[in-house]
Amino acid sequence: MQYVRLGKTGLKVSRICLGCMSYGVSERGSHPWSLPEDQARPFFKRAVELGINFFDTANVYSDGTSEEFLGRALRDLVKREEVVIATKVHGKMRDDPNGRGLSRKAILHEIDASLARLGTDYVDLYQIHRLDHDTPIEETLEALHDVVKSGKARHLGASSMHAWQFAKALYLADRNGCGAGTRFVSMQNHYNLLYREEEREMMPLCADQGIGVIPWSPLARGRLARPWQAATPRSESDEFGKTLYTFAEDSDRRIVEGVADIARSRNVPMAQVALAWMLHKPFITAPIVGATKMQHLDDAASAVSLKLMDDEIRRIEEPYVPHPVIGF
Ligand SMILES: NC(=O)c1ccc[n+]([C@@H]2O[C@H](COP(=O)([O-])OP(=O)(O)OC[C@H]3O[C@@H](n4cnc5c(N)ncnc54)[C@H](OP(=O)(O)O)[C@@H]3O)[C@@H](O)[C@H]2O)c1
Repeated sequence: MQYVRLGKTGLKVSRICLGCMSYGVSERGSHPWSLPEDQARPFFKRAVELGINFFDTANVYSDGTSEEFLGRALRDLVKREEVVIATKVHGKMRDDPNGRGLSRKAILHEIDASLARLGTDYVDLYQIHRLDHDTPIEETLEALHDVVKSGKARHLGASSMHAWQFAKALYLADRNGCGAGTRFVSMQNHYNLLYREEEREMMPLCADQGIGVIPWSPLARGRLARPWQAATPRSESDEFGKTLYTFAEDSDRRIVEGVADIARSRNVPMAQVALAWMLHKPFITAPIVGATKMQHLDDAASAVSLKLMDDEIRRIEEPYVPHPVIGF
């Protein structure tokens, strides 16, 4: 495994982050494919064996049970200081008017709830899962600053939003004197071979500002890792996923076929090619991969050392056409 700094921080993360959205109680939340705790545990163990030290979850994943599974497994497998735990806040946790969002009240409650579920007294990266249009961004930034200053989070990150909104948040944090410690250090955005709109504004902004980039759904939720028509239990029940890749099916299919051709000629799984493509981009810190079969983890780890040729990269980039901005 390779390790790199998360943006401009001194924090070292593995070049593969394990996403924990597919682990949790399947009846709670919106991921019916998620694996129960006894089936999820071996994935955490294998990730640690592969040198993965970076784990991403969220308060909303399976109603907090993803955080619980991750926390319990890591407590049994590693010392707390050896791993980097990232979680998120914003989504709906309760029906009452303050049960979601990024108000001061919500953030200060949700960080404590996440820490209790994770069984730790701090997270390494506390991320806003989306923007909250009902809360002034200044209120959110100050509450997040207080979370860091109270020792409950080491760093702050953000997730999908427009680049201008992220630029504004960075500017306000600087102007309000939040300091290097509580400026957002990472962007968790939607990026893969089938969705490259982030290359227009967000990626150059992150490169310029020294922001670590940790894309979600780097395999387009599996579409880049299997033949075009293939289906899996997840692909059939992933309602959000079904909304993301319906706009340019002809070019998407050609890209997936290109990935398959290169995988065949290299004698490696498709997932390795799709992840290796992303890992070649200088602005990428670590893709956040999802794994529902043990082999998925090994494929992701192997992608770190797979070098693609320029003509292979051209082959899988060339069919891309602009897509509608989607996913947030
Ligand atoms: N910030 C956000 O808004 C946001 C949104 C989405 C996700 N996330 C984060 O990103 C993480 C990853 O998301 P994701 O699961 O959608 O990512 P992904 O890596 O694009 O998709 C994972 C899926 O791809 C398939 N797959 C993975 N490796 C494979 C391999 N080697 N061979 C064949 N198929 C393979 C599996 O599909 P099957 O299960 O169908 O076999 C797996 O469930 C999440 O866990 C979460 O932490 C964040």
